[in-house]
Amino acid sequence: MTNTMWGGRFAASPADIMEEINASIDFDKRLWRHDIAASKAHVAMLAATGIIDSKEADEIVNGLDRILAEMKAGKFAFSRKLEDIHLNVEHRLTELIGPVAGKLHTARSRNDQVATDFKLYVRDEIATIKAALTALQLALAKKALDHAGTVMPGFTHLQTAQPITFGHHLLAYVEMFGRDQGRFANAAERLNESPLGAAALAGTSFPIDRGMTAEALGFARPAANSLDAVSDRDFALETLAAAAIAAMHLSRLAEEIVLWTSPQFGFARLSDAYATGSSIMPQKRNPDAAELVRAKIGRIAGAFQSLLMVMKGLPLAYAKDMQEDKEPLFDALDTLKLGIAAMTGMVDDLEPDVRAMKKAASSGYATATDLADWLTLKLGLPFREAHKVTGQIVALAESKGCDLKKLSLADFQSVDKRIGKAVYPVLGIANAVKSRKSQGGTAPANVRREAKRWIKRLEKQGPRDKKEG
Ligand code: ARG
Repeated sequence: MTNTMWGGRFAASPADIMEEINASIDFDKRLWRHDIAASKAHVAMLAATGIIDSKEADEIVNGLDRILAEMKAGKFAFSRKLEDIHLNVEHRLTELIGPVAGKLHTARSRNDQVATDFKLYVRDEIATIKAALTALQLALAKKALDHAGTVMPGFTHLQTAQPITFGHHLLAYVEMFGRDQGRFANAAERLNESPLGAAALAGTSFPIDRGMTAEALGFARPAANSLDAVSDRDFALETLAAAAIAAMHLSRLAEEIVLWTSPQFGFARLSDAYATGSSIMPQKRNPDAAELVRAKIGRIAGAFQSLLMVMKGLPLAYAKDMQEDKEPLFDALDTLKLGIAAMTGMVDDLEPDVRAMKKAASSGYATATDLADWLTLKLGLPFREAHKVTGQIVALAESKGCDLKKLSLADFQSVDKRIGKAVYPVLGIANAVKSRKSQGGTAPANVRREAKRWIKRLEKQGPRDKKEG
């Protein structure tokens, strides 16, 4: 049997392998809600413009609603013979309402239909991801407020650098995920043009009203060029690029959780809810969820690369290559949502070991910069000289196997006579973080203020996300 939807000029049916490579229904069935919504908008427009009569339009809309109900109930029988979601719906519509179903496809093509469905899908996904990011940011900001004054070592090159607060560290991620939000919002804004009515590639001779379908589907306007409308997938690529960057941020935080919860660092602990045991080594508590979040970027960045390669060099307009846009995007966005949710759970769950962090911050000469700054500020040494003097003091402490604070005044004065006992408070880590009051600095007062500002903003954003989603 030839394809009943497009088989007019075909005498024989496709080879099995042809059907297997050609069919997309196994994955594009996820577009069912969007496909029905786009068809309903299209049919309402066909009636409003007099292209079909309104009684026919009503029959079609009723039929589409019945299909929607079947799909919602999980009772719709998807068929691979019918290739994709569009033809599955149209075929069922014919079964339900007879030949009048054939009028639905007036002045449209699967090319503008699939571009429309896919955009609607991506737009919904972006809203969901944004809401999930808001929840993650809120979890981070709340923990940051709780730990605005919790001192930990800050690292560069993963070597103890200067003391910072744990809250400050967490707020760094709130900023990163905030920029991710911005990238998703930009992508959503740019994709908001309706391809519907571009038809196969050239537009149509029917007197359609593209503004009407665009509005019904919540697009800002119709896409201006019919060739562009059916042939570009940059909206999916932009979304995947934003997803890859967000996944990169997640992977960095995940890696820090892996480090912090290792016995060697011992900075934080995940409860049993987020740790797993080893089947052979009874002492272990593995941070599997963090490791998986760290790894998920592979699939997500891979999806971006995969679609970019599919699109590279494609001549205008639609080509079947573009059917390969869906699986990587579906997988990448599912994976990202899972990663964000798991990370939100871990952030809530994560308990820092305040004493261990403080102890680590007190070792490794983390206040050496404070000493150099003090020599500059209070004793008037040029910073380069202060740096050198401090270096000598660190070397002395190292040779004695002690912290800077444990050196005697005579020790200090053996390096530079001008140093008095006022040096000691400078070497404390509490003083070190408190003094970093510069804008964006780690001082607990700054962190408290920033965490509160974020919490206020995110608590307002949360309900808005829900409305958009
Ligand atoms: N299943 C197709 C896709 O995902 C729909 C468009 C098919 N158009 C066509 N002319 N064969 O891209």
